Amino acid sequence: MTLPPAGAPPVAAPPVERRPRRCFVETWGCQMNELDSQRMSGLLMEQGILPTRDPKEADLILLNSCSVREKAAQKAYSRLGEYRRLKRRRPELLIGFCGCVAQQEGEKALSRIPDLDFVLGPGRVGELPDILAARRRGQRLVATGFPDARRRRYAFDSLSRQTSYKGMVTIIEGCNKKCTFCIVPQTRGPEQSRPLADVLAEVRHLLDYGFVEIELLGQTVNHWRDPESGADFAVLLDRVARLDGLRRLRFVTSYPRDFTPEMVAQIGRHETICPYLHLPVQSGSDRMLKLMGRGYDVATYRRLVAELRAARPGIAVSTDLIVGFPGERDEDFAATLRLVEEVRFDSLFAFKYSPRPGTAAPRLKLPPVAEAVASERLQTLLARQSAIQHEINRGLVGASFEVLVTGWGKEPGSLVGRTPCHRVVHFTPAAGRAVVPGEMTRVRIERALPHSLLAAPLAA
Ligand code: SAH
Ligand code: F3S
Repeated sequence: MTLPPAGAPPVAAPPVERRPRRCFVETWGCQMNELDSQRMSGLLMEQGILPTRDPKEADLILLNSCSVREKAAQKAYSRLGEYRRLKRRRPELLIGFCGCVAQQEGEKALSRIPDLDFVLGPGRVGELPDILAARRRGQRLVATGFPDARRRRYAFDSLSRQTSYKGMVTIIEGCNKKCTFCIVPQTRGPEQSRPLADVLAEVRHLLDYGFVEIELLGQTVNHWRDPESGADFAVLLDRVARLDGLRRLRFVTSYPRDFTPEMVAQIGRHETICPYLHLPVQSGSDRMLKLMGRGYDVATYRRLVAELRAARPGIAVSTDLIVGFPGERDEDFAATLRLVEEVRFDSLFAFKYSPRPGTAAPRLKLPPVAEAVASERLQTLLARQSAIQHEINRGLVGASFEVLVTGWGKEPGSLVGRTPCHRVVHFTPAAGRAVVPGEMTRVRIERALPHSLLAAPLAA
């Protein structure tokens, strides 16, 4: 088995007498964390440890934490505290601290929480069975750090996928960019691309099992390069988009500067690539983009969006924005609002800047933005965006779409689905027509809300 890196001796604890039977996994954060949780659940199921939705029923609890925003460590410790209360009543309960906060806290977490059973970073997910075996023998391990991707275990057929129609496939791990606000390069390590052959094998495997939607994952997904041939993301898109059985191909998250004309062309070329792209811009002010270390300017971003829209008419574009980054003045925020007005994003995630330990931004010694100002900017931005989205959605009334049904709605008999451009649609199938999650069906949009659409079914 792989032991923790040198300098981290296992901490002794009483051996565990009973093997866990039920596991509860709590997942915070991005799709990569979601996929890591699916991997951990899958590895546990291979050992006969089944998932449960109720932490009180579990004898193993994994907290898969996220450290991107606000008081991440504090929140994680407070949740671990709640689980420890369960452990006081049931001492055989095992608690594992996983994800990005665990990677950062490492040894500290074990000493801070005497009854924590192990710490497992995102680069070591495949070692969960070994960590549990060691715990049974009486060792509390801290498995953090980033072994070379070629040495990591990644058994994609033992993943416990959450649905039977959408499969997430990691193509690139970690991040080599240095955005000054972002903690991800520290918590997910240096960038490592998976070989083309591995990616294609995993996608083929999913399609053979009847999955129809594939989502390629990476912090900078379009920076992927085949470590063997040097082929880039445009080649990968082309290869995956042509596979038999694939209905929808999506990928997240694209880095604006890493987009090439050939990638744009592929999006225009393949029907199976969803007309939806998440393209975080972070700010509409060149001065802020520079301070954030993003490596592009607003004009370049605008041009890219125009090229995407020309290549694929109707493509939906969403973005991430940070308000209140240190040094952000009224005119910078005004520039962000202008960009939002101009581009008319189909959806938008806006965050108040929160300083993360070990990132470069705090060292820039920029004047902080007052909390009240940042909150007001966030509200202004969200209100404006909500109005824009409502207008865009109203323009879709009367249009028909093929939706992929993703689940049941709140009303009895109603369903929720996604249009190819990833909009949420609520509808009720015609009487006598059984439609289930994972199926595709046609609907006509009848009403628009700011964040979703209401539709009526169309005859197939
Ligand atoms: N490449 C990844 C980045 C992960 S962080 C991706 O785009 O998914 C996701 C988003 O969180 C970023 O785009 C950014 O808008 C926001 N974010 C990251 N660090 C932040 C911080 N310190 N404060 C506020 N928002 C932050
Ligand atoms: Fe973070 Fe920038 Fe990488 S936002 S994940 S450092 S691309």
